[in-house]
Amino acid sequence: MSVKISPSLLAADFINLKNELERLEASKTDMLHFDVMDGIFVPNISFANPILKQIKESTNIPLDVHLMIDRPHRYIKDFAKYADFLGFHFEAGSDVKETLEEIRALGCKSCLTIKPKTKAEEIFEFLPLCDMVLVMSVEPGFGGQSFMPESLPKVTALSQEIQRLGLNTLVEIDGGINGETAPLAVKAGADVLVAGSYLFTTDMKDRMEYLRSL
Ligand code: DX5
Ligand code: ZN
Repeated sequence: MSVKISPSLLAADFINLKNELERLEASKTDMLHFDVMDGIFVPNISFANPILKQIKESTNIPLDVHLMIDRPHRYIKDFAKYADFLGFHFEAGSDVKETLEEIRALGCKSCLTIKPKTKAEEIFEFLPLCDMVLVMSVEPGFGGQSFMPESLPKVTALSQEIQRLGLNTLVEIDGGINGETAPLAVKAGADVLVAGSYLFTTDMKDRMEYLRSL
C-alpha cells in the first residue's frame, strides 16, 4: 500500500481557497489536514469550524482534523459534523479513552496525537481505540519548522506495536516533511504524511507524486 498524503491547509493561499481546493483535487490528494489552534494548548490561533463546514460543503476530499486545543472533549461534537478523521492531543487534558470512544460513536475515524516530548509507549494502551495515531515531528503550533529526527523511532515503535496487536491503525507524521525527510518517515513506518509548506508553495501535483512513489 503506498503512503497516503495529507496536505496541511495552514500553508494554503486563503484569498484563493477555491483554487487551492481545485489544486488538491487535481493532485488526487488522499485527504486534507486541517489544523485547529486555540492559542492556549499551542501559542498560536488558526481557524475553526465555520471554515471547516464550508470546505466540507465544497469538496469530497476526506478531512483530517488535527485539534491543537485545550480540553478537546468540549468540541468533539461540533467538529465531528464535518471531520472524517478527528484527532486530538494526548496531552490536552481530556479523558483519552472517553474522547476516542465518542469520536467513533459520532461516526468519525479517531486519531490520537502526541507531541515531541511524549513517548510512543504512553499511548500503546489506547491503540485499539485509534483508527490513526499522529506523531508530531515539530512542536505543534506553527508551519514551516524543521523536522525533528527524534520522532522517527516513535513512528517505528507505534507501527510495530500496531502490527503486533493485529490492528489496522494508521501512523501519521506531521511537521517539517519535505523531499529529504519524507523518505526517512516512510522508512520508519509512516502510513500518512502531512506536509504544508512543501506542497502548497510550489507544484503540488509533482511533489505529491514524488511522495507517493516513496
Ligand atoms: C503544526 C501543524 C502542521 C503544520 C505542518 O502545528 O500541525 O500540520 O501545518 O507544516 P509544515 O509541513 O510546513 O511543517
Ligand atoms: Zn497538523
